[in-house]
Amino acid sequence: MPTLGIIGSGNIGSAVARLAVGADMNVIIANSRGPETLQDLITELGPPAQAGTVEEAASQTDAVVLSIPLKAVKDLPEGLLAGKLVLDTSNYYPSRDGRIKELDDSTVTTSELVKQMLGDTRYVKVFNNITAAHIPALARPDEASDRSALPIAGDDDAAKVQAAAIIERLGYDTVDAGTLADSWKFEPDTPAYGLMYFADPNASEQQLMSAPPSATPADEVRSALDAAPRVNVAERKF
Ligand SMILES: NC(=O)c1ccc[n+]([C@@H]2O[C@H](COP(=O)([O-])OP(=O)(O)OC[C@H]3O[C@@H](n4cnc5c(N)ncnc54)[C@H](OP(=O)(O)O)[C@@H]3O)[C@@H](O)[C@H]2O)c1
Repeated sequence: MPTLGIIGSGNIGSAVARLAVGADMNVIIANSRGPETLQDLITELGPPAQAGTVEEAASQTDAVVLSIPLKAVKDLPEGLLAGKLVLDTSNYYPSRDGRIKELDDSTVTTSELVKQMLGDTRYVKVFNNITAAHIPALARPDEASDRSALPIAGDDDAAKVQAAAIIERLGYDTVDAGTLADSWKFEPDTPAYGLMYFADPNASEQQLMSAPPSATPADEVRSALDAAPRVNVAERKF
């Protein structure tokens, strides 16, 4: 049984952990405060899941989902994920992360910046464009007619193929959105971000965690990516 490391046990990390256990994967999940703070989540997830240190989640696993605030990525131990297949969920929120000049002026995308900070990884961006509550709600087995899709981006084609296999096992089809330089197409405020998975596309920001989702197949994801205008990141307030 493959083992998925998950660094970050918050909204997204715990949602992906639930999918992984449901997909017959082992999980080692870590946060910033230490494994002893994760016992309630581990009890809920059951025996396939263990709490670990960040180092254990990185080194004792087949791939790692990185799901921590962007501002915390620089605090990870140097070389932690060297050579690892990394599925990164990061978004840039200036209100949380502080203003970052090279993102505000679009010199790089968020995923290019994270990849630079991590060093030598086999890096793929995914799970950043869907609300945490919708991750378990929309996951489906691969034969389901109402399966949704997630965009992925990366510069390493083999890593993208392996990441897609994991995501498909977790319950989603994938749409290749291109390279990390292209990944702005599903960053905040684009058509492929968040609202695409809502039953009511006019749902407000306040309803993000409670509004019902609706299945969003690969062709809809592709259309949203194709329609994306590049957001002026410097104008983003949130
Ligand atoms: N929430 C969403 O719906 C959503 C959707 C798409 C993308 N995202 C993006 O996904 C990322 C995670 O979001 P989230 O909502 O899951 O965040 P969250 O609920 O705030 O959880 C963050 C997690 O990161 C851990 N963490 C922080 N610094 C760490 C460090 N240095 N080492 C190890 N773990 C650390 C925290 O551990 P402690 O609890 O111990 O501090 C916590 O478990 C963010 O970039 C976010 O923008 C979020």
